[in-house]
Amino acid sequence: MIIAVSHQKGGVGKSTLAFNLAIELNKTFNVVMIDLDVQETISAYNRIRKIMGQIPLNIHSFSIDKEMIDFVNNQDDKTLTIIDTGGFDSSMNRISIAIADFIITPVSSEFTEILGLEKYNNILAEVSNQINENIKSYVVLNKISPNQKNFNDINDFINSSKHFTLMESKIRRRVDFSNSVAHGYSVVELDNSSKSSKELLRLIDEIKIKAELNG
Ligand SMILES: Nc1ncnc2c1ncn2[C@@H]1O[C@H](COP(=O)(O)OP(=O)(O)OP(=O)(O)O)[C@@H](O)[C@H]1O
Ligand SMILES: [Mg+2]
Repeated sequence: MIIAVSHQKGGVGKSTLAFNLAIELNKTFNVVMIDLDVQETISAYNRIRKIMGQIPLNIHSFSIDKEMIDFVNNQDDKTLTIIDTGGFDSSMNRISIAIADFIITPVSSEFTEILGLEKYNNILAEVSNQINENIKSYVVLNKISPNQKNFNDINDFINSSKHFTLMESKIRRRVDFSNSVAHGYSVVELDNSSKSSKELLRLIDEIKIKAELNG
């Protein structure tokens, strides 16, 4: 099973989410991560994780398309591969979209950000054409302002886009996310009773159902 956390736009929370998902899912699954972010964000978080005495994640980086494809093809059925894609369009990021069994696209809930999904929708359309499949990405609203209660417009817009479905779980803007990764932890490891942990665990439950992930 391959999960890609993907959006061609930068700064939406891909690496933060991918790192948190990987730590929590690694408790049940054999998680292998692929770091395609040029800033190597999750690899840096993982180094801190090791220094903090936690068991580090298994993270790999590639600069050649074929090497990544060969690596993914060599994983057994029990491995859960989580790809943190870079916030830009590239052949490696497109390959990730093509090979993923489940794609998650974090996006913040301001309407201008939502409109930014149009570009990504075009990329999903092009890759869909190439592989002759209708690729769907599950959009998760991230960094939502604590005051926002109504998501009707966003819901309608995303669900009317050909390549997107909005996830029910939402992640609010919370300092826990930057505080936890600064120590190489997930938000759950930082405080398992925090609001951010509850949101993350709810998202994981939804991913398990939608991706039919049985551990
Ligand atoms: N739910 C959240 N609440 C508060 N801050 C968040 C949240 N999610 C992400 N952030 C912060 O937003 C910033 C960007 O996050 P991140 O690096 O994960 O984005 P990215 O999509 O991976 O960016 P890039 O495309 O550059 O790789 C970071 O400072 C991160 O701590
Ligand atoms: Mg990143």
